[in-house]
Amino acid sequence: MSRNKNKNNKSTILEDFTKEVMNGLAKKRKKLNPTLFYDQKGSELFEQICVQPEYYLTVTEYKIIIENIKLLLKLYDNKEVCIVELGSGSSRKTKILLNYFLEKQNGNLHYFPIDISQEFLYKSSLKLQGDLPKIIIHPIASDYFDGIETVTKFLDSQNNIPNNKLILFLGSSLGNFEPKDAIIFLRSIREKVNKEDSLLIGFDLQKKKNILEAAYNDVEGITAKFNLNILERINKELGGEFNLENFEHLAYYNQLKNRIEMHLISKVKQKVRINKLNQVFVFKKGETILTEYSYKYTLKSIEELANKSNFRVERNFLDNNKWFNIALLTPF
Ligand code: AVI
Repeated sequence: MSRNKNKNNKSTILEDFTKEVMNGLAKKRKKLNPTLFYDQKGSELFEQICVQPEYYLTVTEYKIIIENIKLLLKLYDNKEVCIVELGSGSSRKTKILLNYFLEKQNGNLHYFPIDISQEFLYKSSLKLQGDLPKIIIHPIASDYFDGIETVTKFLDSQNNIPNNKLILFLGSSLGNFEPKDAIIFLRSIREKVNKEDSLLIGFDLQKKKNILEAAYNDVEGITAKFNLNILERINKELGGEFNLENFEHLAYYNQLKNRIEMHLISKVKQKVRINKLNQVFVFKKGETILTEYSYKYTLKSIEELANKSNFRVERNFLDNNKWFNIALLTPF
């Protein structure tokens, strides 16, 4: 396992965190960027969310991969790829994909997981290396944009590694971007990839409100812990004085906007000091901090998004209920 050096070391990540918290909480409608969820504890909690019975997304996506992997490999009959994953690759679904590609490419597979949480990335990469000793793993601790750039530069400097990339963005993570940002995100990926590259992206599809809301309000309360952990993180890293008892998890489906909205709602009127920011933030009773949007798509909205970003939908892979879709995109 090689470790790529990247400008996003621990201190830059802390600086970004500080800025995001400062700007987000100073807004009239307070918000915190969902990327802030993923410190070590947040990443572990997210792993736990993925195995909650109500959170159908992960299992469904896994099933789609199992059922379609041979079909997918057939599309790559004539070319070798290296696999880039936006997000850390500890999951079963990544392992399945890697295993099949490894076999198809006769043991020659380079894998670049990109994740902002360095500790989590290295731990999961080490574990993956143990499970699949033959793949060559290049973990990149970074945000996705810088990460893809690092991979592209690295591949350009190598002669003996397949230059075509299959970029995985699984788990419906694109759904956490606002529509305009999703386009910006895909367009900037488009700018960095070659004609021969492709993207495999998971999209959660629109469905009944009760199924969606249950997925973000699991009875075990793991999603609530995940949401509240953002305040715990501010307490730990920025000397925040949030009393977690005074906030509550809130998640509901906004049908007009086709998105789950996740908030932290202040149960009381309160003032909270964040020492490292030298700031006190005032909360009214019932005021919320928006922590996440999770957009839900249709096949039509996926196609529109892809086309606006200069990609074409090569193929959709769906489950029987049509709850989830994995779209294979190629550049125009
Ligand atoms: C990472 N992302 C796709 C998850 C989602 O479903 O939007 C994050 C999450 N938030 C609450 N539960 C899971």
